[in-house]
Amino acid sequence: MTDYAGLVSAAGAMQRRQMYADPAVYEQELERIFGRCWLFLVHESQIPQPGDFFRTFMGEDDVLVVRQKDRSIKAFLNTCTHRGNRLCRADRGNAKAFACNYHGWAFGTDGALVNVPLEKDAYFSEIDKSRFGLVEVDQVASYKGLVFGCFDRNAPSLADYLGDMKWYLDVWLDAQPGGSALIGETQKVELMTNWKLPVENVCGDGYHLGWAHAGAMKAVQSMDFSGFTVGNASVELEGGLSIAGLNGHSVLATVDGVSGYSFYPDNAGILRYLEQNRPTAIERLGRLRGEKLWGSQLNLTVFPNLQFLPGLNWLRVYHPKGPGRIEQWTWAMVENAMPADIKQRILDNQLLTFGPAGLFDNDDGDNLAACTEQSRGWRTRQLDVHTNMAQGRSGARPGLPGDIAVGVVSEHNQRYFYRRWQEHMAAADWRAVPQYNLNSLQDAKDLAHVG
Ligand code: FES
Ligand SMILES: [Fe+2]
Repeated sequence: MTDYAGLVSAAGAMQRRQMYADPAVYEQELERIFGRCWLFLVHESQIPQPGDFFRTFMGEDDVLVVRQKDRSIKAFLNTCTHRGNRLCRADRGNAKAFACNYHGWAFGTDGALVNVPLEKDAYFSEIDKSRFGLVEVDQVASYKGLVFGCFDRNAPSLADYLGDMKWYLDVWLDAQPGGSALIGETQKVELMTNWKLPVENVCGDGYHLGWAHAGAMKAVQSMDFSGFTVGNASVELEGGLSIAGLNGHSVLATVDGVSGYSFYPDNAGILRYLEQNRPTAIERLGRLRGEKLWGSQLNLTVFPNLQFLPGLNWLRVYHPKGPGRIEQWTWAMVENAMPADIKQRILDNQLLTFGPAGLFDNDDGDNLAACTEQSRGWRTRQLDVHTNMAQGRSGARPGLPGDIAVGVVSEHNQRYFYRRWQEHMAAADWRAVPQYNLNSLQDAKDLAHVG
């Protein structure tokens, strides 16, 4: 196994461009990152009833997630165990069983092989059907509505994998009774980019907001978002925090309790919702999260490929399709406590900004594709790219888990994202992957040199 950890510098501040284009690096990512980490599968709200199923991907593996009769959730490789045909072709639905198109083998929602055509006449009743059930994803677990799967039996539990990130996830997942849901259809976009580039773009790159999105910001009249001016002429750093050191997970946060909704052309109704429901959020989350984080723009990243953005209210997963291609799947996120008109407003706004034809998404797509393309040439791929902004300026903050840099323009989170990538790529298995328990905040100080 080649050691690709050297493609990232020790502090995560420099990356060799080869890592965005080399098929061999990508192959190792499929094994050591997508084959090892907990990956987002579905939101429980998308498969509420027994028999409900949802088709997704773990890395490049086609996966079928199915709500069981006892309401638990199982996930299977979506491939027939006879001759390997794709089993289910629908994206989602409700089924009593799954029958293969090729020769008609049928599997129950629990994965058991339940029917083999011509079992008596052609197999002479000698086939042991119990040997040919669907292959289950090794681990499936939920955290407050988000369902994850993992191919590695030796991975830490989902709760441990998320670690201190749960404290930040709860700002969205647990602020109001009833939790969250995803609404609308899956918005699928194919982008010719390496999967790491959109993740780092959203996890930490506040630098591009006032520049790449200047036109979009002007169009939705959110020129004051977190102290940005259109064209990056200035930014008030105290308007936000970059929070990382969370085992590859990270948070980009404004901290004023309302600015997430500054992207909405007419947000009076949403601001009223925040005002009316803030006492509940404070009761459930405490003053710091209820006042400062709930309603703020938060970019939450769960390593490696899940991001959700309370405020802009979308949740997205990036499915890699080779070193230079992804499918980006997006949904609008709502709190179940929201009235119907606010939910509709959120869906409309999400489509306007970060939908398939969204103003902001189109700004990003071209930049990400070009950065990927510019990593391919024989000479160019030997060059480095940089995330060295505000290095060494992070530390612990009372009451907040993680290693924290001031401002959402710092490249701090990207460094930690690449550090985690490096740690996984260097490790033969989970035993060699360091776990930082930042509950104590002590580890955050130990890691401060990384920033
Ligand atoms: S490949 Fe599915 S029944 Fe033969
Ligand atoms: Fe962007």
